[in-house]
Amino acid sequence: MEKTIKQLKKELKEALEKVNDLKSLNDVRVSFLGKKGKITLLKEQLKELSVANKKTVGKMFNDFREEATNLIAEQEVSLQKEALDKQLLAEKIDITLPASQLKTGSFHPLELINDEIISLFVSMGYDVVRGPEIETDKYNFERLNIPKDHPARDMQDSFYITSKHILRTQTSPIQVRMMEKNYEKGPIRMIAPGKVYRKDDDDATHSHQFMQIEALVIDENISLAHLKGTLEVTMQKLFGGTRNIRFRPSYFPFTEPSLEVDVSCFKCDGVGCAFCKESGWLEVLGAGMVHPTVLQMSGYDNKKYSGFAFGIGIERIAMLKYGINDIREFYQNHWHFLDLFKRIDKEGY
Ligand code: DAH
Repeated sequence: MEKTIKQLKKELKEALEKVNDLKSLNDVRVSFLGKKGKITLLKEQLKELSVANKKTVGKMFNDFREEATNLIAEQEVSLQKEALDKQLLAEKIDITLPASQLKTGSFHPLELINDEIISLFVSMGYDVVRGPEIETDKYNFERLNIPKDHPARDMQDSFYITSKHILRTQTSPIQVRMMEKNYEKGPIRMIAPGKVYRKDDDDATHSHQFMQIEALVIDENISLAHLKGTLEVTMQKLFGGTRNIRFRPSYFPFTEPSLEVDVSCFKCDGVGCAFCKESGWLEVLGAGMVHPTVLQMSGYDNKKYSGFAFGIGIERIAMLKYGINDIREFYQNHWHFLDLFKRIDKEGY
């Protein structure tokens, strides 16, 4: 019996030396300490010993079983540690690696101009209003003093939806809607941003859809001087410096007098350069004094009230300000184009 214990001790040591993972360790445990394991079976033989032998050999057996249990447990702990170390090494994160770059978006140039103009006019106490993109012939044309067969309709060839409904060709109908809504027929100060549509063939300077901001001021004693001052402030905000404004006579059916507005070139400060074709001026928008007939058609007393109005083309301003030569750039959304505006915040240059 004693011999057998010694033999098993040797066998166990050898078996444990060969163990290299938790699974093979468990196999050893089962083969020695399991239900039918070598040590467990040896216990059966203890019963057959004489009482005197039982005492000494029994102790020896118990010591050996305890030793075997401990040896296996120790090896288990060290194998577990080894496995954990291996896992930690495999999953190690190098915190000194540079982080992958986050791609951020940028404001669209049209959005930048639109917001700049809106925040300027809001700061001067104007209301920002919106109107429908599908307009009636009445508001888009007739109430703006453009009756059927008027040649001005050709200038704004329209997309018809029904015989009476079109995609608006300008933001000017919002003026009429505001005047009509104002039941007191008193002062108005508003701007109206939005998309407009014309049946144009798309090329570098034309688009069948573009953006405008309409402005309308009505009060007693409003004059061209108010219009000029307002536009000067607007152009200074958009193009920086002290910009000069020049009025050129023009024609719009809904204003009298009607003007086209030039701003002194922001590249050469009005001296003359290639950008302004040596003229020192850049053409920016249409404007005028609200036609008395337009006031009257919306129920205003045109003896008491007068007003000015203008319509800014957002694309035109953005093209001038950012030196963009092709209007189609705005709608293609190529990332390398949009990326150019990344560093420009909503108020800056
Ligand atoms: N609606 C005109 C256009 O689209 C622009 C315009 C000119 C608007 C004169 C106005 C204005 O309010 O007074 O061409």
